[in-house]
Amino acid sequence: MIEAVIDRRRENIMKSPKRGGSCHDDSLPYLRELGVQITEKRQAIQFTTNVNECVHRWAPYVQGFSATFVQSVFERYSQTYNSPKVLDPFAGCGTVLVQAKIDGYESFGVELNPLLKHIADVKLNSWTVRPSQLLKIYHQLRKDVLIPEPPFLKSARQFNAQVLTNLKRVKGGIDSFIPKTREQQKIKDLLNVAFASILIDCSNLKRTPCLGYWKDKNVDDNAPFVLFNKKVLEMSEDLRLLQSEYKENLLTRSEVVCANSMQYEYRDKYDLVITSPPYMNGLDYVMNYKIEMAWLGFITAHKEAKAIKDDMVVCDNVSKGLIKDFVMSQYYTNSWLDEITERISRNIQTRQAYRRTDMPFIVRKYFDDMNRVIERVSRALNKDGRFILVVGDSLIADTYVPTDLILAKMGSEHGLDVESIELARSRHSGQVRDYVLRETVVTLRK
Ligand SMILES: C[S@@+](CC[C@H](N)C(=O)[O-])C[C@H]1O[C@@H](n2cnc3c(N)ncnc32)[C@H](O)[C@@H]1O
Repeated sequence: MIEAVIDRRRENIMKSPKRGGSCHDDSLPYLRELGVQITEKRQAIQFTTNVNECVHRWAPYVQGFSATFVQSVFERYSQTYNSPKVLDPFAGCGTVLVQAKIDGYESFGVELNPLLKHIADVKLNSWTVRPSQLLKIYHQLRKDVLIPEPPFLKSARQFNAQVLTNLKRVKGGIDSFIPKTREQQKIKDLLNVAFASILIDCSNLKRTPCLGYWKDKNVDDNAPFVLFNKKVLEMSEDLRLLQSEYKENLLTRSEVVCANSMQYEYRDKYDLVITSPPYMNGLDYVMNYKIEMAWLGFITAHKEAKAIKDDMVVCDNVSKGLIKDFVMSQYYTNSWLDEITERISRNIQTRQAYRRTDMPFIVRKYFDDMNRVIERVSRALNKDGRFILVVGDSLIADTYVPTDLILAKMGSEHGLDVESIELARSRHSGQVRDYVLRETVVTLRK
């Protein structure tokens, strides 16, 4: 039975009318109606380039922005705004906010995953910690206390036995340190972020970008000590650099809150919103981080992770129950979405064996979620403010979904002008491999 379904899916892909096609041709009718063109401006927008960058390197985050991209946006608008106030409604681990602080700009972020919010917070608000104190406390950490691993995780499979024991020793040392001053609390937070950032490297897993077991991975028993040491040294080097090169920005206001952007009402107004929303067929920003969330105490059971996930902007592995409830509600729509979701429905029915039959409603919920965010962000923009979104499109059941153009149209419905759409990167569809998709930078202006 299962094999028949797999064969059918394979056959559908082989027979797909979208083979060899591209987002370029399929976007033309939408672009015509929107009255804009996509200009080509290839640029590195992914986090990978951040691994050597001051502060950004404190925690690896595959789904993040490149700091260079964010800096290029600041430079583009350096003559337009005098010290812009910056907002990121999907702050992740804080790339936009950290880069804003490096430039001396005030910033604010919203992030629903409490671990990522915490990492962003530590990256933003530890700049006055004395590197000498960080190193002193690090060297004094106890090595004789082992804390138990999170009971609901499969740690024995995730880590080799000796590696696991050593991780429990590192975490035991951090947990045994009782801070007595605010600076010491910040140091403890830095140590916990350093610990969280080495967990996947110490494990039998890797992110590609989803978390999965990696058969040939060879982790040295001492990896927890070696990698933790490296991370703490990087942090102390960066603090030294910040305190010499960016002295005047050490106290620039930067705040990140753990909240839902679909409901958040902003009190302030902003000049530059730079963000990358979750992609529809993208990642699970909770399950991918559940190991770090559990070790740092942000979740104590799977159901807590699920509850956070259910509040996020939807992605295509959302629970069926959530979509069932959504079908009964009033949701955002427009003529493009009606046509797209009808076509997806029809294609799923005729081709059969599609991974999820509720896909049309997942698409609807994604745009309904995004509409709530865009509405709130548009209101929080100053006049002449820019809302810059980096976003990827999708091919679903042989139906092209121009996510960037739909979000641009949504922005115009909330009173913003579509100023430009730049093609930053081409990608391939996960299903029909030779169909070309894109990632674009959409700039909306109030
Ligand atoms: C593409 S990532 C952003 C990464 C960020 N630009 C960076 O460089 O760190 C999208 C983020 O949106 C967050 N998110 C998803 N739904 C959310 C919601 N409803 N409210 C706030 N944040 C949400 C996810 O947890 C994820 O961290």
